[in-house]
Amino acid sequence: MSLFNLAVLISGSGSNLQAVMDAVKNGIIADAEVALVISNREGAYGLERAAKYGIKNMVIGKNETARLLDTLKAHQIDGIVLAGYLSIVPPDLIEAYTGKIVNIHPALLPLFGGKGFYGIKVHQAVLASGAPYSGATAHIVDCGVDTGAALVRGVVPVLADDTAESLQKRVLEIEHNVLVQAVKALVERRTEDLIMSPVTLTRENDMEGILEYAKGLLSLGSALTASENGGL
Ligand code: GRF
Repeated sequence: MSLFNLAVLISGSGSNLQAVMDAVKNGIIADAEVALVISNREGAYGLERAAKYGIKNMVIGKNETARLLDTLKAHQIDGIVLAGYLSIVPPDLIEAYTGKIVNIHPALLPLFGGKGFYGIKVHQAVLASGAPYSGATAHIVDCGVDTGAALVRGVVPVLADDTAESLQKRVLEIEHNVLVQAVKALVERRTEDLIMSPVTLTRENDMEGILEYAKGLLSLGSALTASENGGL
């Protein structure tokens, strides 16, 4: 059986890329290969991480859509992982890889997602809302911003003394597992199952509080939709 060829698109540090490379290496994601790492930014540390693993890596700027598509085709890429890729994915790419692109977002989508919700701004908005939980969501990429179907979520508590930076760090830790589970499903062609029934990862001792939180959101009826200012 031929391996499922993954391309990982990054812009920065690449800790999520590292998690995917490690999961492929140690067999958690089986029958796959990270064939290509592409950054839209020169000097992104993730490029070094790829080089250390002997993975082909390159910079393709955000306005080079044709080159991006050609490169993916030339490497017979089967699926794409957006791991901290801070650029809008061109519609041509989404069309060519419909249902085959997975993104990791550092919040519990559909909350705190959409235009303007990136990087530290996401965590600032979560803190400002007073939400007791945050987390990460791996989802299929469609033509909207953070609107594609959720596959896997991971939940972490927001602590009383959190700063946006400390929350960002706690969320990043769970992102890695969330993304690996979603990429594993992509490789195993199980994303449709997860779209029907997304998985939520949490620590066992957080379960009760999270259930209360979810019930609270549901009792607010329309609260489970993305809002302009990220407020609950
Ligand atoms: C992550 O928080 C990801 O959710 C966001 O950008 C960050 C990338 O981190 N989109 P890294 O480059 O994977 O370390």
